[in-house]
Order: sequence, then C-alpha cells, then structure tokens
Amino acid sequence: MKLALLGDLHYYRPIDSVESSRHEAFFNNVFKAFFRNHYDYYISLGDMTHFGTPEEFQEIYSVIGSFDSSEDFQQILGNHDAISQSKYDLKKQLGIPLYWSIDHKDARLIFLDTTREKSPSEWSGIVEGAQLEWLEKEIEASDRKPILIFSHHPIFNTTDHSTENGLYISNSDEIEEILSRKKGVGIFFNGHNHTHSIAHKNGWHFVQSAAVLCSLSYREVEVTENRITINTVFIKNPELDQLRQLIAENLDGFALIPGVLAAGEEKDHSLIVDLVKTKI
Ligand SMILES: [Fe+2]
Repeated sequence: MKLALLGDLHYYRPIDSVESSRHEAFFNNVFKAFFRNHYDYYISLGDMTHFGTPEEFQEIYSVIGSFDSSEDFQQILGNHDAISQSKYDLKKQLGIPLYWSIDHKDARLIFLDTTREKSPSEWSGIVEGAQLEWLEKEIEASDRKPILIFSHHPIFNTTDHSTENGLYISNSDEIEEILSRKKGVGIFFNGHNHTHSIAHKNGWHFVQSAAVLCSLSYREVEVTENRITINTVFIKNPELDQLRQLIAENLDGFALIPGVLAAGEEKDHSLIVDLVKTKI
C-alpha cells in the first residue's frame, strides 16, 4: 500500500485579480505534483483551508476534483477547517464522518478528529468521550497488524514544538495510555506545527509534516509485508516556491516558518520501520 500525505495547505479565497492568478497557479500546481504518482490514498492532514468557510472548501475541492485520483482523497479536519462552521455542517458539506478507519490488508488506517468546534482562540487539540472509546476498540481490533494514525494535532512532547502552547492535543496522556496497548508497530502522523519532524516515544513513531506554505513538499508512505518506508518529496520548482512565499506572507494569522527550518533535518525526512524484527 502506498500513501501520499499533504501538510497544512491553508487555502484562502483571493481578494483581487492579482491574488487570483497567483492562487490558481500555486494551488493547481501543488495538487498536480501531489497527484502525479499513483498512491492508494492521498491524505490531507488538516488545515486544508484557512477560514474553513463553505466557499473555501467548494473552491479547493473543485481543484481536487479535476484530478482522476480525487476519489482516493481523504481529509481529516484541522483547527482552521473547523473555525467557521459547526461539525454538523462540515460533515454535511464534505460528506465525511468526523473520524473513521480503513482496514487495509497491510495496515489499519485510523483517521482522527482532534479539533474543537468554532474555536478561533484556542487552537490546541482534544479527543473526547465516544471517539476515545472508539480508538481503544480500533487498537484492540488491529491486533498485531501495523496501525497508521492520522491526526491534525501531535501528541504532547513528541515532534517539534509539541510542548508549546496550543501545539499539541491537550489530553495527550489519555491517548498515550490507549496507544500503549498496541501490539506491534504504530505510527502517528500529524500536521499543525508546520515543520517536518520525526520522533520516537514508548515504542511509537511520530511523523509530523510541514505546512505546504512553509516547505513545498509532501510525504510518501509505503507499507509492505516486511517494512514501512516514509520519505519526503520536495517539489523543486523555484517559481512555485516564490508564489508559496508570497501567498504565505500575505495570509493573516498564518504561522510562517522559514523554509529551511520548516524542512527540518535529514533525520526528519525519512524513516524505515522493520516489520519483521518487531513482529516478536
Ligand atoms: Fe496550520
């Protein structure tokens, strides 16, 4: 199974014709690169939109819909996606459950909703009640099959910046307790903090993806019987990178991290997890 992961995109509506042509060139080309190769699933790690309005979703989904593989596109919510609309309305517009799983033969994919509803001033994550119970059952049901969790927010004290105010799931301890019951391999993917970062804690691997507006790149994940391989694909296109910088600089309320810092170090770019050794 092969997956492509997209970090925070923060799509917002252009305010004039200058911005409009910039946007068209940038967002179309980002998705062109993202959809260029074949993957089983193409996953957005949340904050696909900046203000989460119905119009932003409509416009960005019409870009996505123009690609043949768009039916394999999956999107979890980020805090920005959930700023303007109720969860009920988001579910209705996007036609997706808030959290769900896919039991593929190679791995179980778990998609979380870590967002608060219409909460512009508190942007940390939270996973409560029914979803926590559901996660517990999912981990149990996966038995020894590898688990890949997709969450917008990171677990506290794992990847870059995940101890800073608003930059982690506030009840991380409850989730970690559930994760600790996993037999076999577990990888936790997240966005939110806008930098590439890979960390390891209590037998789990934590892979954070940079915002596309900070580092023009996406992640690639391959799961075979023997190993899980994660790589970073940097989109090397100076004109597109210039557009990225312009769009990011003009976006109010966007945490722009300089490209060099957002890209992380070499250890943050790739990871190989041996499934044979960890089978015992
Ligand atoms: Fe973000």
